[in-house]
Amino acid sequence: MSKAWSARFENSLNPFIQEFNASIQFDQTLIIEDIDCSIAHARMLGNKDVITKEESKKIIEGLIEIKIDYQKGIFHPAFPSEDIHYAIENQLIHKIGDLGKKLHTGRSRNDQVGTDIRLWLRKKINEIDNLLLSFQKSLLKIAQQNKKVLIPGYTHLQRAQPLSLSHHILAYLEMFQRDRDRLKEVQNRVNISPLGAAALAGTKINIDRYMTAQELGFKNIYMNSVDAVSDRDFAIEFLSSSSLIMTHLSRLSEEIIFWVTEEFAFAELTDSCATGSSLMPQKKNPDVPELIRGKTGRVFGHLQGLLTTVKGLPLAYNKDLQEDKEPIFDAVKTVSDCLKAMTILFDEGLKFNKVNLMQSVENDFSNATDIADYLVNKGVAFREAYQIVGGIVMFCVSKKILFKELPLNEFKRFHKAFDQDIFENILPENVVNSRNSIGGTSFQRVEEELISWDNRLLN
Ligand code: ARG
Repeated sequence: MSKAWSARFENSLNPFIQEFNASIQFDQTLIIEDIDCSIAHARMLGNKDVITKEESKKIIEGLIEIKIDYQKGIFHPAFPSEDIHYAIENQLIHKIGDLGKKLHTGRSRNDQVGTDIRLWLRKKINEIDNLLLSFQKSLLKIAQQNKKVLIPGYTHLQRAQPLSLSHHILAYLEMFQRDRDRLKEVQNRVNISPLGAAALAGTKINIDRYMTAQELGFKNIYMNSVDAVSDRDFAIEFLSSSSLIMTHLSRLSEEIIFWVTEEFAFAELTDSCATGSSLMPQKKNPDVPELIRGKTGRVFGHLQGLLTTVKGLPLAYNKDLQEDKEPIFDAVKTVSDCLKAMTILFDEGLKFNKVNLMQSVENDFSNATDIADYLVNKGVAFREAYQIVGGIVMFCVSKKILFKELPLNEFKRFHKAFDQDIFENILPENVVNSRNSIGGTSFQRVEEELISWDNRLLN
């Protein structure tokens, strides 16, 4: 039967409630962080003479052994320990005897769990940042190879104006850079130590919070003990940043999914990243981007879930906060896996069909703005030019021809300023290359951006 916590309890816990209450099933993920947190705490207790230096040394040695035992697979924390904190404390007592009972002096599981989760998340944010960087490098490589390849640009998913494929890809580089910048911001608020806040009010034991914070590599400490044990803003901010990463991955996935359709045929999936159908032998399915798009929902759900968990909580710690871990763990795994999969897709899974891309921009009216701009350059007011070109589009559509097939004398019927050079102006390559405003798609601007990104991603 299960043990009761303290002498206050006469009877043991109902077995189902014991399991319901426990978090060891998932918070064992925090084992290394929990041990590191305890080592820092034990060293500080020794330094402050709360326990003797010898006692501190023995506790630390015991904790290091537990870590090694875990890494060797000799020790595995499990139910019926309630959580990782009890599991490690009990294992320490088991290893070094009654001295282990001194470890929990001047702290509570409330500040301990807050410390563990911050240490864990801090490491994972750095790992996600590295995955984002690798992905940006893969995107940059594709952008570097496709500067002069053109792709239709869309608004409302209607052909708008042609773009350099590089320019389109570089838009995603910008988005993922904002994601990295946001994570850096979040990291500033993850990297603050709640340790020493104890249960909620601080402690009368002579501790040194700066000492533990420094050993654990925290930038700062929480200045209010109640806030320290109640705050989960950093976790919500992380889930919010993760949701935006997933949003960006999902938008890119959506584009890939239609790029590889027979209708678009802008790209093809290689065998290493495509999947087949169990029934239709001709199928090559984009399961990878579809899964990424699909998994976006669970990360959004985690954000909504944790916001809801926290919103009604009175200060300070409430057991509800135990519910913060699974969403954080799952969001980290989902975002990391999706970034890895998308990187592989760009490294080896996606072949742009350059011939189709070039042909597609030849056969539409996406150079209409350029005809209007041509007239503007000849002194016609833009709004007037816009109306004239609208008329030309209507005429061409009725005749089932493209602008380039309209003879010059027909152009002249719409405005006398048209001359032979109109045909050069509406060539897709010139259309793209003439958009030379800062941030535009001209080859010169794109080249500048490629160089600038090459330098930025090195650092
Ligand atoms: N397992 C708990 C959690 O994850 C640890 C803190 C428990 N504190 C308490 N006073 N019951 O939040």
